[in-house]
Amino acid sequence: MHILDINYLNFRNLKDSKLSFDKKFNLFLGKNGQGKTSILEAIYFTATGKSFRTKKQEEVISHGKSALGTFLNFEDRISDKNLSVRVEEKSKSYLYNKKKVRYDEFFGKLNVISFIPEDIELIMGAPSIRRSFFDYEISQASYGYYEDLKRFSKILKVRNKCLKEGKGDTPVFEIYNKEFLTSSAKILYRRLDYVKKLSILLSLNYRKLFDSESELILKYKSFIGDLRKESESEILAKIEEKYQKVRSREKRYGYSLIGPQRDDFIFLLRGKDTRSYSSQGEKKSVIFALKLSEIDMIIRERRETPVFLIDDISSYFDSIRKDSIIKYFEKREIQVFITSTSELSISSKNFYVDEGEVK
Ligand SMILES: Nc1ncnc2c1ncn2[C@@H]1O[C@H](COP(=O)(O)OP(=O)(O)OP(=O)(O)O)[C@@H](O)[C@H]1O
Ligand SMILES: [Mg+2]
Repeated sequence: MHILDINYLNFRNLKDSKLSFDKKFNLFLGKNGQGKTSILEAIYFTATGKSFRTKKQEEVISHGKSALGTFLNFEDRISDKNLSVRVEEKSKSYLYNKKKVRYDEFFGKLNVISFIPEDIELIMGAPSIRRSFFDYEISQASYGYYEDLKRFSKILKVRNKCLKEGKGDTPVFEIYNKEFLTSSAKILYRRLDYVKKLSILLSLNYRKLFDSESELILKYKSFIGDLRKESESEILAKIEEKYQKVRSREKRYGYSLIGPQRDDFIFLLRGKDTRSYSSQGEKKSVIFALKLSEIDMIIRERRETPVFLIDDISSYFDSIRKDSIIKYFEKREIQVFITSTSELSISSKNFYVDEGEVK
């Protein structure tokens, strides 16, 4: 996939503008605080309907304005398409090929992967950060997971409500519970399947780019213990077994003590948890390798190359790692957007960002 151009109105500190892009490297240069990250954010925002910096959508609207709009043209293997997002006060609308659509229909049309300084939270932050990250990425890569996840969240809410109201013994609860257990097994199975495939790519990418001697593994840590090659029905059997053990406690506590909403993902570098044992540079490299593996997964599952956004490359890596990253992309057919405070030795379309103006 390639983004051909973007149009934005009232986005952060950016002056309203239209930018056309190169199909390979696009480089945004400028001093601190000029709007480089905001441009990547505008691209990400139009592609996914979300910001990579904040959950509060009003933050992305330019100070003093009450609405924003973005519009981009892109092409995939099949044809040219466009996406647009509009935010007004508390309402948000999504447009695909100029028609207003629900978020479900908007999401996943244009695949983007971003690498930003805040991503270090994927290692250092709470398990909920990793869960939402991977849930999102699995949704991008494989069809149907987004719907599975929505169904699961809904039934989890209902189940928790039942338990909270002391209805854990009622026939209604039994019905909800059955659906909850089946839905949990489905989520778990799909996450495991994804992690298994991703972990192989992760190790390859880490070795290729950063350290040929080290093994990097992604492990799924589940509430039902270690899992290897179980089928969905075997997973369901394990979940049911676990449920029998906690059911009386769940009634006492009044909320769900089991389910994939309690699981976690762990990065093991040379067999050790990166969170506690890896250096800063290693952590950044692990996340970078993770993002490259996400790209490979999307190519594999969807037969499309996603667009890649790299924010602030110079503050992340030393010159050796930077060169190896650039070489990696030079050899591949991927559209890349990079921001940097200093020039890079690549042949790219360069944009100079100064006080929100892009030249
Ligand atoms: N909603 C907003 N409206 C107007 N300006 C904003 C808004 N949100 C942030 N800004 C300002 O936009 C400017 C550009 O921010 P941005 O993060 O894009 O800069 P940058 O070029 O990436 O800088 P750095 O090199 O330090 O990362 C900042 O000065 C920030 O305070
Ligand atoms: Mg920045």
